[in-house]
Parts: sequence; structure tokens; C-alpha cells
Amino acid sequence: MRARGGIHYDEERGAWDLFSYELVHGVLSDYKRFSSQTSGDGEAVSLIGMDPPRHKQYRGLVSQAFTQKSIDMQVDRIEAIAAELLDAVEDQGSMDIIRDFSYPLPVIVIAEMLGVPAHDRELFKDWSDRLVASADPASGQTAEELTMAKHQAAGELYRYFGQVIEERRRNPGSDLVSELLRAKIGDEHLDMPSLLSFCLLLLVAGNETTTNLIGNAAVTFLENPESLARLYAEPELIPAALEESLRFRSPIQSLSRRAIEDVELGGKLIKANEEIVVWMGAANRDESKFPQADLFIPDRKPNQHLAFGQGIHFCLGAPLARLEARIAVTALLKRCRNLQLAEGVKLERTPGSFVFGYESIPVT
Ligand code: HEM
Repeated sequence: MRARGGIHYDEERGAWDLFSYELVHGVLSDYKRFSSQTSGDGEAVSLIGMDPPRHKQYRGLVSQAFTQKSIDMQVDRIEAIAAELLDAVEDQGSMDIIRDFSYPLPVIVIAEMLGVPAHDRELFKDWSDRLVASADPASGQTAEELTMAKHQAAGELYRYFGQVIEERRRNPGSDLVSELLRAKIGDEHLDMPSLLSFCLLLLVAGNETTTNLIGNAAVTFLENPESLARLYAEPELIPAALEESLRFRSPIQSLSRRAIEDVELGGKLIKANEEIVVWMGAANRDESKFPQADLFIPDRKPNQHLAFGQGIHFCLGAPLARLEARIAVTALLKRCRNLQLAEGVKLERTPGSFVFGYESIPVT
């Protein structure tokens, strides 16, 4: 597909698919011609679906909490959570990396940042799974079915956070929800729909993605015993190996944009308002950008992958995701000196083409 110009029109979905690094990078970088507001007629209430100038105002409200400096202050706490999770399965001699480790870790971290009880995590998981599934552009479901599924899950999550917000209005603290309640755009506080969509975004954007980053990295290391041996011997290589895992098995495979005007891309004419799906998973395997792209090279340099997106919407949570994954993998390798897949296990991928992850990773 990349060799054929990296662009293809899918008649059935009525959308353009882009696969080459150059085209994917170009579209994500060009917010003036490619809008993030892909659904609905009204103004987007969620940061991720906003265009400038609103996007900049809203992103500014939470960016402080996600700077490298703010995130680095959480190192001790994240190390403690990782250690607690590993302690809990220590005596079993086996564990499921997803269920016991990479799923709960980011949920606990973001729940603490938002100031909501981490023991509600089964609820968060359910909502987050249903929302991610409803955003899959290639799921085979009709647009109406996807919209309905999305509204149902979002409705339940909104009711939950509506209560949290009211409670925090009465008793403000130093958590992110209280921070959002104090925030202003011009002279105005955020209205309830904006508050709710921020909570939803922070909860959903960072959980399954980080779970899959840690899980995908573990699978990739297990498949490459030489690399795994190097990581045991040189743990300082772990951050680079995680970047390579982000490239090699990108947790988010694709993003959607809408053409604002007629535009020519890769020799094809895209008309105003047509939908474009950029496949970062494919762009990250583009040989013209990454020599030996289908090989996992733990210390690959340079490694300008697109797994966190590109341009003004570049993942706000990237410093947090990178820190959580580094701490998680470092702790896992320190604790399990001979990590192996459990015998006879056949790994199963999570459904859908929009995210890349595994249902479960049993190891001994
Ligand atoms: C945006 C990926 C973790 C919060 C994005 C985008 C990508 C992405 C590709 C760009 C969306 C677009 O351009 O339309 C990932 C991956 C993660 C991860 C692969 C883990 C490995 C997190 C975490 C958080 C987070 C931990 C926060 C707790 C956000 C937010 C945005 C975003 C708020 C929207 C930014 C904007 O629109 O300006 N993420 N993400 N992400 N991510 Fe992440």
C-alpha cells in the first residue's frame, strides 16, 4: 500500500486512508487544511476534536499538570504503585502482565491525579473499552451503531463524573478536577459539558494506550530474546527500547481528520469535508523513514515515530506515559529475572484495528 503512493480511497467507508510517513506526518502537521473536528455539526467540546484558536485555550488549562516537571514529581508514587502490584502476585510464580500489572497501573495513577477512587477501576475499564471500540473507523459497525454505543458509555461516565464535580465544587482540593473548576477562559469558568469531556478524555486517552504500550513492549521483548538479554544487562537502554516498541507496535494505529478545503495529496484530489484516516502504525513501518522497519532494534537512532501523533495535538500525556512505562518495565525486569511466556500460550490481540494491544499476556 505504501509503495503505491501511500494513499487509498475506501469506497465502503467513504474515507481516504493514508499510510506513508510523509503523508501521515504532513496531514497531522497541517491543522489549517485538516481539521480535528470530524463528527457532529456543533463545536467540539473535547480538546482532541478542537481546532485553533479554541484548542490552544483549552490545552493551556491542563498542560501545566502534564509538563515533564510536574510528571517527574510523581516518580516515587508510580514506583510504589508498580511495586505494590508486583508484590501482590509475587508468591504465585506467574502473572498476567495485562490484568495484574499494565492495566491497573495507569488507571490508579490517573484516578489519583483526578482525585477519584481507584477502586472504581472496573467501571473505568468498561467505559473506556466501549468508548475506544466506538471510535474504531474500520469496525464494520454502521455510523449510527457506533454513535449509539459511544453515547451510552459516555452517558454513564458523565453521570459518575457529574457527581465527582459537584462534590469537588463543595470541597476543592489539589486534584485535576478541582484545578479544572478553578480554571477560566477569559472571564468564564468552564461549563459542565466542557468539564465532563475533559474528565472523560483524561481517563480514556491515557489508560488503554499506556496499558498497551507496556504490554506490547513486553511481548516484543519476549519475542526478541537477544534484546531482552541486553535490557537485563543494560537497564539504561529501557527508554530507547520503549520508543522502539512505540514505533514497532503503536498502541494507537490511526487518527481521523477532515479536509477543510480541496487538497491534492499523493497525486489524488481530496475534496473539502472528506474524511481522512492517517495510519501511524503503517507510517511507523515506512522503510523510507526507518531502515529495516520491520526489525525491532532496541537502540534505534534516530527514531522519530508518530505513535504520540504530531503537531498541535501531540499527546499531552506523553511524558506521563513514558514515565509509567519506564518504571513498569524496569520494575518488571528487576523482579522477574527470567521472564517467559507461560507454556502453550497463544497470544490474542484486542479486537479492532484502531488500537493495538493484547487481551492477556500470561508469563512465568
Ligand atoms: C492525544 C497517543 C497516553 C492524554 C494523543 C494523540 C495520540 C496519543 C496519537 C493525538 C491525537 C490527535 O492528534 O488527534 C497516546 C499513546 C499513549 C498516550 C500511544 C500511551 C502510550 C496518554 C496519557 C494521557 C494522554 C497517559 C493523559 C493522562 C492525551 C490528551 C490528548 C492526547 C489529553 C489530546 C491532546 C490535544 O488534542 O491537544 N495521544 N497517548 N495520553 N493524549 Fe495521548
